[in-house]
Amino acid sequence: MNIEPLVQRIGREIFAHARRAAPGVLEQGWWQQRGLEWTMRHEHLKARLFEFIGSLPGQPNAAAVARSLRDHLCSNGDDLPWPLRLAVDFDDEHSWHARLSAWAATMAAHRMARQFIVGSTPHEALATVGGMRRYGRCATLDILGEDVSNDTIAEGFCRRYLDLIEALSAVAPTWRYDALLDDAPFGLLPRSNVSVKLSALSPNFSPHRRPIDVMLVRERLRRIVRAARDGGGFINVDMEHFVLRDATLAVFEAIFSEPEFRDWPHAGIVIQAYLRDSRGDLDRVLAWVRRRGTPITVRLVKGAYWDYETAAAERESRESPVWAEKWESDAQFEALTRVMLENSAWVRPAFGSHNIRSIAVALACEQALALPPRTVELQMLYGMGDPLKDAVVAMKQRLRVYCPMGAWVPGVAYLVRRLLENTANESFLRQGFAEGISEAVLLQPPQRLAKPAADRRE
Ligand code: 2OP
Repeated sequence: MNIEPLVQRIGREIFAHARRAAPGVLEQGWWQQRGLEWTMRHEHLKARLFEFIGSLPGQPNAAAVARSLRDHLCSNGDDLPWPLRLAVDFDDEHSWHARLSAWAATMAAHRMARQFIVGSTPHEALATVGGMRRYGRCATLDILGEDVSNDTIAEGFCRRYLDLIEALSAVAPTWRYDALLDDAPFGLLPRSNVSVKLSALSPNFSPHRRPIDVMLVRERLRRIVRAARDGGGFINVDMEHFVLRDATLAVFEAIFSEPEFRDWPHAGIVIQAYLRDSRGDLDRVLAWVRRRGTPITVRLVKGAYWDYETAAAERESRESPVWAEKWESDAQFEALTRVMLENSAWVRPAFGSHNIRSIAVALACEQALALPPRTVELQMLYGMGDPLKDAVVAMKQRLRVYCPMGAWVPGVAYLVRRLLENTANESFLRQGFAEGISEAVLLQPPQRLAKPAADRRE
């Protein structure tokens, strides 16, 4: 079945709506926008700048921040723009000058982080998320934090999730019913929807985990899932680094195979299309869900750890688990989209993407397979790509916004991922809205970007 003409038509329709919406693609203030554009033009410095931001929460005091700022920027001192050159032009890191620079850098990072964070308390987050519904957007809430350092912190995360779920269960029923957000072809959707990263639930949910660590994660996840089920909610288990993939899938399958939860459909997992063997992951989940006998939701994403995975594989001289070329992930995303929609009785399909071509493919497959409208759920990140959000809402699609909440310190890894994503050469938002590449090019099948075989034989 050739769905390409349909993909093109839907893609153009999304573009037309998006261009009508507000122009602020990243919703950043003017300075932040200029700052990001500048980092895009200075690839070598970008990595160091983002590394500096990532190191901020670990710095004990202002002098350490100032030193780190200088260390990260100075080896490239010659092409720094003047405000940065001035910022690191101090001899004594205890001087007022150095402290002022440290303060300004911390504030700037803090402000950037706020762009992507929905609130610091459940109260704030719920007010924002409730307000979003008026614009036809529903949400999944995530508490910022991953790779925790000790068990007290992990237990703290578990409790904060329980508190959040309790607060959501109390407030969500008061939200006005909206068929677009609350009703899917397979029934009413829980309004309380929470995403959890398993690495937040134990300091040892790592490549070196022991069975006891996995037990602990399961125990905490079980408490969270129980609270969600009792409060009429939904739990999504997020995917993280590749080294955690198998363990994450195993914990997910184990919990949702338990007699207590096996009939419960309001659970979700993530498949990352940038993994070379993501087809295997999807097949594994499909086989498991058939054995279980109750459907789940699958959120298909490209994957947010590309830079990390690529660098880690290179450092350890092993083959990278992720595709080297962006078009390969895009092509895989489309292939998996089709498989998911063909199996939508088992996996309720959600697509997390800011790429209009990818979104158009999901919607085209839905139509081509004669599935009821809104079988597909679209998901996007808070603070990114608002015109796109407006566009799909205008087209009467169900849009769920991934909304992290919490303080920026535990969220810094998340912030750095978003900065990398927004400034990547091949970012769709950047190409489509900041650089104005033509719709025809952006909507072409990803395989078109493959280099001819001759070029690749080196
Ligand atoms: C991330 O944390 C959105 O889950 C994705 O980067």
